[in-house]
Amino acid sequence: MSVRLGDTAPDFTADTTQGTINFHEWLGDSWGVLFSHPKDFTPVCTTELGYVARIKPDFDKRNVKVIGLSVDPVDSHIKWEEDIAETQGTPVNFPMIGDGDKKVADLYEMIHPNASDTMTVRSVFIIGPDKKIKLSLTYPASTGRNFDEILRVIDSLQLTAKFKVATPANWVNGGDVIIGAAVSDEDAKTLFPQGWKTVKPYLRVLPQPK
Ligand code: BEZ
Repeated sequence: MSVRLGDTAPDFTADTTQGTINFHEWLGDSWGVLFSHPKDFTPVCTTELGYVARIKPDFDKRNVKVIGLSVDPVDSHIKWEEDIAETQGTPVNFPMIGDGDKKVADLYEMIHPNASDTMTVRSVFIIGPDKKIKLSLTYPASTGRNFDEILRVIDSLQLTAKFKVATPANWVNGGDVIIGAAVSDEDAKTLFPQGWKTVKPYLRVLPQPK
């Protein structure tokens, strides 16, 4: 069964480089990012893990826990992490799931047999504090992901969870936002007393609410 937006993130218990975790318990009240890597000791994955380790403070300040997965065992991850620290300049500072039996990869449909039946694709799931899937991305093994984009989506998700707004193309934190289509002008007057600009009746723009 596929994992779709709005579904509850499948729960699991797994060995990680930081001990055995139960996923939902480990998430607690935080947001979460679960992302998969095709294989240990591979070049693109090495750069991705190094980059995520470097920007982990940006996830922390948004109350987001990050966890990686690769279909190799934990002892292999631990050896690989020595190389990542050496070559990428930052030690991996978040847990990596050892998924040798592909239990979690299967649960999240991270193996796409027509791409490879042994390695995962590059999946990303953003999970809200309600344990629901808020975003799902699938990249091919040959393309490293843009983790600044993941942070940008988290900013949008956290903003739109708080205010009845949506964020336009290429929005970045602090940019103008759009009043949600389901909000009437009448309700918008109460919600956004500072006002907005009506470009079209369905396109109402205002500065990002604080
Ligand atoms: C990589 O991380 O470089 C990679 C992994 C699997 C297939 C292709 C590339």
